[in-house]
Formats: sequence, structure tokens, C-alpha cells
Amino acid sequence: MATRKIVKVGDDTLRKICRKQEKFDLRLTLLLKDMAETMYKAEGVGLAAPQVGILRRVAVVDVTEDHSGLKELINPELLEEEGTQTGREGCLSVPGRQGVVTRPKKIRIRYQNRKGESMELEAEGFEARAICHEMDHLDGRLYIDVMDRELSEEEIEGHIPEDDEQ
Ligand code: NI
Repeated sequence: MATRKIVKVGDDTLRKICRKQEKFDLRLTLLLKDMAETMYKAEGVGLAAPQVGILRRVAVVDVTEDHSGLKELINPELLEEEGTQTGREGCLSVPGRQGVVTRPKKIRIRYQNRKGESMELEAEGFEARAICHEMDHLDGRLYIDVMDRELSEEEIEGHIPEDDEQ
């Protein structure tokens, strides 16, 4: 496995609509492994393929502290959403910044696993937030485009009113 370089905001790669992943081959397996390793090393909770320069509809998410909850999402589609949650969000492609973003509280998605099998997944809370954030990346959308407000440096370090709603 190897880590890959994370593309930063300002790079056009992050603004493209990614193409469907059609091949479920060794190259995809290696991409998924590298993406997970890159995410864990950067202490992120999600990473989308365009963030490592690959314009395909592929993302990884793991919101657990012990790296036990890895989800590999290929060609994910939102099937249902319920409620809203408002809270802080950051992005490995937007270092040093955070914003407050409103997302669905619960979601149900359909996606393919690394073998190309169709799967469904329900997620809520922070995991739902992370999945929505990564799915946005596949359409060239960053959280800074949809945030309610940007946090100040003091707020990034400290408490914000929106934290109480979590
Ligand atoms: Ni991101």
C-alpha cells in the first residue's frame, strides 16, 4: 500500500464531475487501499477519489477511532434522506479551515462494493454527514460551497453553539 498526494482547494480536479467506476479490477482494489491509507494517515474520516486526482465515483469513509468502520463506496447514490443536522465540518483538501454545514440526519444509499455487487447502507449522525460530504466531492462540490458559515480560528479550537445540537 502507499499513500497518495491529496489535492488541495484551488485545483480544478476538485471541481469536476467524476465518471462512473465501470471496472472492478485490481487497479480499483489498489486505489481503495491507497485511499484508506491516505485517509488514516491524514487523520480524516473520509476521502473521495478526486482528492487523490482520480476522477471516478469512488470514496472511502471511516468515522471510527480504531479504524474498524471502513466503508468503500463505489458509484454511491442517495436513495432516501430524513431530518437535518447542523454541525462542524472540515476537509483534507481544505486544510486549516472548518465550517458549519447542514446535512441530512439519516440517509440510505445504494452503492457497489469492490467486487461490483450492489449494496445498500443506512447511516445517521456523523457517518451520514461524512458520506454526504464525500458524495458531494464526486460532483465537484466542496463543503465550503454549501456551508452555513465559516468558523473563526478560535471557534475551530473551541466550542460552538452548533456542537450542542449533535
Ligand atoms: Ni472533503
